[in-house]
Amino acid sequence: MGSSARRGAITFYTSNPGKVREVRHRLAPLGVAVRWGRRTLTEPQADSLEEVARFKLQQVPPARDGALVEDAGLFVRGLAGFPGVYSAYVLRTLGPAGLARLTPPAHRSAVFRAVLGYRGGNGRPRFFVGEAEGTIAQHPRGTGGFGFDPVFIPRGEERTFAEMTLMEKERLSHRGKALTAFEHFLRRA
Ligand code: IMP
Repeated sequence: MGSSARRGAITFYTSNPGKVREVRHRLAPLGVAVRWGRRTLTEPQADSLEEVARFKLQQVPPARDGALVEDAGLFVRGLAGFPGVYSAYVLRTLGPAGLARLTPPAHRSAVFRAVLGYRGGNGRPRFFVGEAEGTIAQHPRGTGGFGFDPVFIPRGEERTFAEMTLMEKERLSHRGKALTAFEHFLRRA
C-alpha cells in the first residue's frame, strides 16, 4: 500500500460521529489514521447516493493526504425504495419508530446502501459501494449505533444493528462492505 493514505492519514469529512467511529475502527488495523473533518457538506437533491457522494467530494478541500466522504441511505421495498436518498430528512422528522410504523407489515424487506468517495494524492475520485439486506423491525430495539440502527435487522439475524457490538455491525453492514472494497483498493494502490 504505497498511497499517501497508507503512509499517513485520511481525513473523513462528515458531521456524523457514529460514522467516524466505524471508519476509524476498521482502518486502524491497516495503519491508516482517520482524522475527522467535522463539517456538514451540502447534499444536492439527487436520485442516487453515488451522485450525492460525488458532490460531497467536490466540496472538500484539496489535500496531500486522502479525503473521504460517504453517503448512505435505507431503501424500504414496501415503500418503493423510500426513504433512500431522503433518509436523513426522514430520520429527523419521523425517526426510526415513525419509519417502522410507516412500513407495510407484510412488506418489511429493505436494503441499506453506503457509497464511500475517496480522493487520494493524485486527485482522482474513486467510489466504493456496500449493501446490507435486511428487514425493518416493528419497533425500535437496542441502544448501540446511530440513526436507523434500532429498526434495521440484517438478513440472517434476529437482532437490530443497535443490539450489536461495533464489530458485529461492521461484519454485516453496508458501511463495513464498502470499507472492505476500499481496503482492497488501498492494498492494491
Ligand atoms: P447520510 O446522508 O449518509 O448521513 O445518511 C442518511 C441517514 O441515514 C442519516 O440520517 C444517517 O443517520 C442514517 N444512516 C446512515 N448510515 C447509517 C447506519 O449505518 N445505520 C443507521 N442509520 C444510518
